[in-house]
Amino acid sequence: MMVVRIFASVALAASFLVLSACGGGSGDNSVPVFTPQPTAEPSPTPEPAATPAPTPTPEPTAEPTPEPTPEITVTSLSELADFPIGVAVAAGGAGNSIITSTGRQAIVSAHFDQVTAENIMKPAYMHPAESTYSYGQADELVNYAAANGLAVHGHTLVWHSQIASWMTNYSGTPAQWQTMMESHITNIVGHFADDDVVVSWDVVNEAISDSNGALRESVWYENLGEDYLAMAYTAARAADDDALLFYNDYNLSGNGTKLTGALAMVQNLLDDDVPIDGIGFQMHVSSGWPTNSDIRGAFQRVVDMGLRVKITELDVTVNDNENLTELTLEAEIAQAARYQQIVEAYRDVVPAHLRGGVSVWGITDGDSWLPNFKGRDEWGLLFNDNFSPKQALQGVADGLSSP
Ligand code: XIL
Repeated sequence: MMVVRIFASVALAASFLVLSACGGGSGDNSVPVFTPQPTAEPSPTPEPAATPAPTPTPEPTAEPTPEPTPEITVTSLSELADFPIGVAVAAGGAGNSIITSTGRQAIVSAHFDQVTAENIMKPAYMHPAESTYSYGQADELVNYAAANGLAVHGHTLVWHSQIASWMTNYSGTPAQWQTMMESHITNIVGHFADDDVVVSWDVVNEAISDSNGALRESVWYENLGEDYLAMAYTAARAADDDALLFYNDYNLSGNGTKLTGALAMVQNLLDDDVPIDGIGFQMHVSSGWPTNSDIRGAFQRVVDMGLRVKITELDVTVNDNENLTELTLEAEIAQAARYQQIVEAYRDVVPAHLRGGVSVWGITDGDSWLPNFKGRDEWGLLFNDNFSPKQALQGVADGLSSP
């Protein structure tokens, strides 16, 4: 209003000047009489008639409503399961060792009743030189497990990888190779046999080649032929007559040539009365591979042989297309569904007396071997780096609780 008023006064003054000038220049000698006009308040500029507000056009929904993050309600996986629920742990001097990491200890005690040493019970660690067995780190882990009510799944005795160079380069006759391998197994299995904490072993790991299902040409095969398998299981059973003995491998759940080769190998051994209690499915899988029906079919074939099924190293990759730089909610939910599907397949297909258990291969995504192994970002496990639970944890719980 102030602006309007000032403008009006200026306009009035201007018209006065115009009038004066006119009067002054008329040539008429009479004194111009100027009767000042009463300063009238300018009539208020009428407010524009309020136009009726247009009916608002609804804004087009630009972004889809973000999916709400489903709540994670699980408090204990192992309480939901009637079979062992395990996890691979770092131990020894590792920064993420279960012996020193209180965050990891809390997770393990809440959710798991079995642990596998991710590395420290492999041949290179426990048998670093021909006449040296090194049990310090493994004993520390086994003692930790015993004190915390956890069983230990022993991993692993006979493998082509993570064996000490003395073993790879061992030179001897077949009989010496046999003695060397049998002593290795007898000593290690015997060391843990009386504790009732180490309840099972992956006696032989990854003996089948990827391409054709035939025996992998490992140092064991090259030096002992296929007999090394029977020797290994026989020695393990002799050293501990109540530990469960597994054959463990990856890519078996694809239900293809590799599983066919592994089961033929195991059936031959069973036919010769070699003690094998079950098949360890590592199950380093992805959100999309293998298909659910292949996983079920693979479990079924092992069940049909009367053998136990143990999922030994479960993790689920989400970044196979290498387009994620962070774990999106969408990928996390797909991963959770995958975990749920696998646990449901396990419960549906494997009867209770053949369930060797389900173990995941690490605690947090930061602990996982996957980024290194795949050479890309991955988030394959059940917990975030800050120990918070992921949707995948709920997926496993849902798989354990579905009817
Ligand atoms: C992996 C560990 O997770 C890594 O830390 C290590 O560097 C290599 O071995 N199959 C197995 C496991 O049987 O022992 C492997 O563990 C993963 C694949």
